[in-house]
Amino acid sequence: MISTATPPQTTTTDDDWWRSAVVYQVYVRSFADSDGDGTGDLQGIRQRLPYLRDLGVDALWLTPFYTSPMIDGGYDVADYRDVDPMFGTLADFDAMITDAHAHGLRIIVDLVPNHTSSAHHWFTAALAAGPGSPERARYLFADGQGTHGELPPNDWESIFGGPAWTRTADGQWYLHLFDSSQPDLNWRHPEVRSEFEDVLRFWLDRGVDGFRVDVAHGMIKAEGLPDVGFSTMTTGQRQVELLGKGRLPYFDQDEVHEIYRAWRPILDSYPGGRMAVAEAWAETPQRLARYIGPDELHQAFSFDFLDATWSADSFRKVIDTALAEATVVGAPTTWVLSNHDKQRHVTRYGDGVEGLRRARAASLLMLALPGCAYLYQGEELGLPEVLDLPDELRQDPAFLRTGESRDGCRVPIPWDGELAPYGFGPAGSELSWLPAPALWRALSVTAQTGVPGSTLELYRTALRIRHVHPALALDADGVTWQESEPGVLAFSRSAGATVLTCVVNMSGAPVLIDGYGQPLVASDELTEQGSGRLLPIDAAVWLERR
Ligand code: NOJ
Repeated sequence: MISTATPPQTTTTDDDWWRSAVVYQVYVRSFADSDGDGTGDLQGIRQRLPYLRDLGVDALWLTPFYTSPMIDGGYDVADYRDVDPMFGTLADFDAMITDAHAHGLRIIVDLVPNHTSSAHHWFTAALAAGPGSPERARYLFADGQGTHGELPPNDWESIFGGPAWTRTADGQWYLHLFDSSQPDLNWRHPEVRSEFEDVLRFWLDRGVDGFRVDVAHGMIKAEGLPDVGFSTMTTGQRQVELLGKGRLPYFDQDEVHEIYRAWRPILDSYPGGRMAVAEAWAETPQRLARYIGPDELHQAFSFDFLDATWSADSFRKVIDTALAEATVVGAPTTWVLSNHDKQRHVTRYGDGVEGLRRARAASLLMLALPGCAYLYQGEELGLPEVLDLPDELRQDPAFLRTGESRDGCRVPIPWDGELAPYGFGPAGSELSWLPAPALWRALSVTAQTGVPGSTLELYRTALRIRHVHPALALDADGVTWQESEPGVLAFSRSAGATVLTCVVNMSGAPVLIDGYGQPLVASDELTEQGSGRLLPIDAAVWLERR
């Protein structure tokens, strides 16, 4: 059965850059360390900009580098308008963004509006001022239940596990959907709204091209803070997956959209296509799509793609749904396979040789789809999750509460050399805040550069083709699914008579790929059978017919 999904047609202008961009996520702490203290920094990014330009990405998303006690890796912000000394200075940021722009790379920064750090001056003032004070009104303080207020105000659980409430010395409780060091702001308070509008302007004035909005679905809590009514009995993070039980009173409330409707004119008032992408989770793709549009945000991550299991049916369903929603809202889909919160996709797909083969194939699949693709640093090297970090080195606050940790995808990436941390710091530096495994020596940028068939060269080739191929351009026609054997995904995209077909073999046997034209790039070596070509299992190929 051949079916077609047509993405929204647009006229490409420079302001539309984000619609088909490849964005590279830099986990700042683990990307490149310029001063040898074992922590990545802004100068380190600046030094590695030529690598990113040559890789062929369009933009960088930088995880938070603001002043922070770093309890949740910087998602606990103490000052939204400054750089933490561990990452550098505002002058370093200015120099980095100037150079990035000179290299043709745009910069997206992370905005963390749901909560501040408990070290933020608003929160220290709120604790000092006491119950009923205007200072407390900026956060969500409440009296407890029970005869002496000794029980939390409601049954909400933290995403990181345990209760979402912590009691203060004077007996009141404050809400934190994440760690107790991350108090939730009260987004019904006008001062909170105006403060963040001002923070947006602060970074826009410094030239940023966009924002990744953290917990974009969480800022508004249902009036009266009603009980959820059930406990997850497991890590709070899983609550997200329980959305099927009904909308949680602290996620995806209708009123949250008012915030984005106020932000959009601010973004639009700056030249050059300033954008925002939502890290939002919603019950259905339809509700997720509500965050996107000409009067709200530009994009929302399609996490269903990341969550798809290794099967043609699973991917087909997710792709079809995402493309259909994109058509409704008039914005292309935002695909992602890995990020700093999720196990790396090499490991999710089985680890070892099999996991890497599948990861490479999935990356080719993602880069052939219409829309914007987000890469996570190190995926271009085929890095797996580091599963055996010693417990005492793990820093994720969720680890202490639940035993689950996201440190394994945050290990500093290998650049070159024989000894760990493989060029993460300056020559001779042995420090890195998390240790890289010995196996990563063979995965470094230097070890893979110029090596035919390496994962790095695969990404470079695919990104180069993606940039120039008319059938992969924004205004190319939609996706046309081709008839294929069970377990095989095959779709074409075309521009005039030029047709590019992507075939992904998730079946248990090699498949013939004749009739689609000449191969342009493949995640594994194709073999010959008679006069035909075979795509091996767990592999993908792009073919071109003119
Ligand atoms: C989502 C971020 O990606 C994650 O790293 C962080 O822990 C939470 N939001 C809380 O800010």
